[in-house]
Amino acid sequence: MVDKILDGKALSAEMREELKARIEPLQAKGVTPGLGVLLVGEDPASRSYVTAKEKACEQVGIHSQEIRLPEVASREEILEVVHGYNQDPRIHGILVQLPLPDTRMEQDVIAAIDPDKDVDGFHPVNVGRMLLGLPCFLPCTPHGVLQMLKRSGHPVAGQHVVVVGRSNIVGRPLANLLTLKNELGNATVTLCHTGTRDLAFHTRQADIIVAAAGRPNTVTGDMVKEGVVIVDVGVNRVEDASRPRGYRLVGDVDFDGVLEKVGAITPVPGGVGPMTITMLLYNTVWSAECATRGT
Ligand code: GUN
Repeated sequence: MVDKILDGKALSAEMREELKARIEPLQAKGVTPGLGVLLVGEDPASRSYVTAKEKACEQVGIHSQEIRLPEVASREEILEVVHGYNQDPRIHGILVQLPLPDTRMEQDVIAAIDPDKDVDGFHPVNVGRMLLGLPCFLPCTPHGVLQMLKRSGHPVAGQHVVVVGRSNIVGRPLANLLTLKNELGNATVTLCHTGTRDLAFHTRQADIIVAAAGRPNTVTGDMVKEGVVIVDVGVNRVEDASRPRGYRLVGDVDFDGVLEKVGAITPVPGGVGPMTITMLLYNTVWSAECATRGT
């Protein structure tokens, strides 16, 4: 059973050691990679994601700075913080935690981030470069999923990968990256979503399933073939009075229901989550390297 589990924590620890080794020469030049964080509002899940990202920065030697704004912050106040980070030479990466309390502002705020500091890979310039297969900041969760599959001995090339979920942050960028002709891609891809007529028909044909639908039990045991590799991106809070916090985290996949059939599966928590954070660190270090090149 244990050898079926794709351990995101262990893979992250390995990658974070690689990053520490890249930070050393930067520090020798007097440069500490810096991440500027903006958190708007009090959403507890966003708060806890941001805390985890800042802790991870500290662990590898990235300086992080956080600015918090109240839920009622105006577009101008938010943009002022982004512009400040854009102009600050100590900041190599900018993270505006999403969702914003007013989601209608999100695209304007993302567009205001300097594409060269867009370590989330959400700016239209980086999204376009990604689609073209050009060098750019890759979005952290899709990149984390791809690194995890590669490093755990499950290359996607030639495989039929079924992605469930079409979000801007995970499903659609991931589906696109999987199609690129490079060492992380070259897969055959099906992208399923809430408009898909018969989800199980598609998932049963998958060599690899990536579940990113944001709903528990989206993929159950009867929907998968023997030997499938499953990456569960879902992080859903379900009420659980037996837990001190009153809830527990579950993915989008019925973990116990699929376990017997799968070749490998990521747990929730401890699967994709740590990899997402690691790829944010990766982009921040790369940004600092680019900014110091030639100095
Ligand atoms: N909200 C959920 N995932 C993410 C992410 O990867 N980056 C940001 N900025 N917000 C998120």
